[in-house]
Amino acid sequence: MLMVALTSWMSRLKKRLATLALVLTLCACHEDTKVVPVSTQPDTASQGFYTQHFERRPDAATLTSLGRLLFFDRSLSASGAQACATCHDPARAFSPDNHEPVQSGGVKSDSRGVRAVPSLRYLQAVPPFTEHFYESDGNNSRDQGPAGGYTWDGRARSAHEQAESPLLSPTEMANADRTAVTREVQDAPYAQQFRDAFGEKLFEQPALTFDAIVLALEVFQQSPEDFYPYTSKYDAYLRGQTQLSKGELHGLELFVDARKGNCDNCHHVAIREGAFPQFTDYGFNAIAVPRNPKIPANADPGYFDLGLCGPLRTDLKDRPEYCGLFRTPSLRNVSLKRRYFHNGAFDDLRKVVEFYAERDLHPEQWYPRGADGKLRLYDDLPSQYWKNINRDPPFDRKPGDAPALTSAEIDDVVSFLKTLTDGWEADKK
Ligand code: HEC
Ligand code: HEC
Repeated sequence: MLMVALTSWMSRLKKRLATLALVLTLCACHEDTKVVPVSTQPDTASQGFYTQHFERRPDAATLTSLGRLLFFDRSLSASGAQACATCHDPARAFSPDNHEPVQSGGVKSDSRGVRAVPSLRYLQAVPPFTEHFYESDGNNSRDQGPAGGYTWDGRARSAHEQAESPLLSPTEMANADRTAVTREVQDAPYAQQFRDAFGEKLFEQPALTFDAIVLALEVFQQSPEDFYPYTSKYDAYLRGQTQLSKGELHGLELFVDARKGNCDNCHHVAIREGAFPQFTDYGFNAIAVPRNPKIPANADPGYFDLGLCGPLRTDLKDRPEYCGLFRTPSLRNVSLKRRYFHNGAFDDLRKVVEFYAERDLHPEQWYPRGADGKLRLYDDLPSQYWKNINRDPPFDRKPGDAPALTSAEIDDVVSFLKTLTDGWEADKK
């Protein structure tokens, strides 16, 4: 039954690939056939809304270059030491270029965060947060539960809101208030460029200036070349421009096989309705990642980061069925990351895939023992929420069963994951 489903999925994938290859041949426009995400539409509309307030209405290219200047400017933080790029390094798909599970920020750069910094690539199509997400695969749609929103718990409703929060967050750039941020931009070497773009009197109105800053950051983060270039080997494969190696192809098969990796169930790999895959369904799941003792907040045994139900997110705190759920991240560029999962508990991609294959087979490998010698199973989630934990393949095994993925199969899945790194096409030219 499952085999049939898989075979039919693979044949649908092949058909889609064939159709895509045909479209590409017909229009002979390989480079220009970038997928335009649906979500740029509301953002373009909001851009219109915000720009109305300004004396001048800068175009998207101007906003992008202003946003880029802001993104790399350390003087935009209270400490003067931290830019967005300090935590979101473009060389690592906008995740940190160090091995720390959480980053420090704040006025004195000594305030440790509570979560791993996510990559900022391929966020352009994240839907607004909803408790009832209907995802169409072209044939049918069903309520998949909560999905979307920015951050690991989806609490930032829009890219606009998300651009604002790190500037003011006490553990990040830690500016005292919005006016402090506007003063920093007014003193920056590129202040005149802001006046040229928005109007000579821009800095006379701090509220307006702050809007201009957030808008520029938001538009920069929608720049396709920087944030969603689709230049991985897998993209080239989807375009019919290259082949995957035997191991990579086998990894892809295991990734979609519902009885093996089953990764595709949450991290979608196929072209859907003409859009290139994002390697996420934007849904929320509890996969019981082990507690990370290196996060200072975890020194308090009573502290638990429960994702959707809090404590960072506050509006769903009375929904026990949401405790332990985090937003499924895209796996594009995942091999560039140095820390994995919301709490940065893993620093090795192969270990992450092993965890999927063996969580419930060899729990003693993943969870610690208490002082009494007893295994502290699922140690980052209080037991009253264990019913939320995902038990679908590959998490459907118990001690003594065969693993969902053998060691050689794990290697192939990792090889496939490495085909998702952008920049492959440029290297080949
Ligand atoms: C001190 C490190 C740090 C700095 C500086 C920082 N961020 Fe982040 N960023 C984070 C962390 C940690 C998260 C995840 C927060 C969470 O899940 O609660 C995040 C999340 C995000 C997200 C949401 C990603 C997603 O997957 O939904 C965006 C967008 C973002 N940051 C943009 C920015 C911008 C723009 C700046 C500069 C104005 C910035 N960040 C500065 C640490 C940082
Ligand atoms: C039930 C949905 C689901 C399935 C199936 C699934 N994942 Fe995930 N994946 C998630 C969620 C949710 C997270 C984030 C969990 C967290 O941080 O607590 C995640 C995180 C990851 C990460 C870390 C990414 C990062 O940026 O930190 C990797 C790597 C990953 N998954 C690979 C896989 C592979 C490989 C498979 C198949 C063997 C797989 N996933 C199957 C939901 C899923």
